[in-house]
Amino acid sequence: MRIDKMLANLGYGSRKEVKKLLKEGIVKVNDSIVKDGKQHVDPNKDVVTLLGDVIEYKEFIYLMMNKPPGFISATEDAVEDTVIDLLQPEELVFQPFPVGRLDKDTEGLLLLTNDGQLAHKLLAPKKNVPKTYYAIIDGEVNSTDVNAFNKGVVLDDGYKTKPGKLTIIKSGVRSEIELTITEGKFHQVKRMFQAVGKRVIYLKRLSMCSLKLDDTLLLGEYRELTDQEVKMLNQQV
Ligand code: URA
Repeated sequence: MRIDKMLANLGYGSRKEVKKLLKEGIVKVNDSIVKDGKQHVDPNKDVVTLLGDVIEYKEFIYLMMNKPPGFISATEDAVEDTVIDLLQPEELVFQPFPVGRLDKDTEGLLLLTNDGQLAHKLLAPKKNVPKTYYAIIDGEVNSTDVNAFNKGVVLDDGYKTKPGKLTIIKSGVRSEIELTITEGKFHQVKRMFQAVGKRVIYLKRLSMCSLKLDDTLLLGEYRELTDQEVKMLNQQV
């Protein structure tokens, strides 16, 4: 790819600003100063430096966010705050988007990437990607619910869900549960509990496929996935 495109893609400025950078003679490719933006580089082979610092090129970005409540899972919105508003310019240059949706009031694991192929595979219904949620329920969750979820429950629109694995952590007037489902219908977890006459009062996603929410991330924080995490995701879908 052209060196000016590579630098612009990485957020070093507009094409015009990158042209100026190059003119300054501070960019080197394999130890030779490059001033011409048209020069081609192979980001996988050539060593590109700016003022001596090696520039790592990557096409894709993969971010794990601990989504806070109050933000919608969209790239832009005229009224609401979006999860993209939480990112820094360094990540925004890659134009990441959320993989699937969490409700505005839902917290927890949200993957953001610009890798459309991986996103598509993770969301494809036939891939049955498991997603695990922790929830606090208004109502006493019992073994009848576990069995009902195991068979699939009928939602308010008549749709019968695929089996869900419900684990009771604490049963009481307010219950705590974990639920693993392999589909992602609109408000699915909330509607599954509604189907058994109970109400979700707190919802947090803990995992998606092999990806587990990093518990060092505070609400609204995010980090890049490790190479190993990206590899595992790709292997599993
Ligand atoms: N199910 C829901 O009801 N809400 C979410 O945000 C995710 C799953």
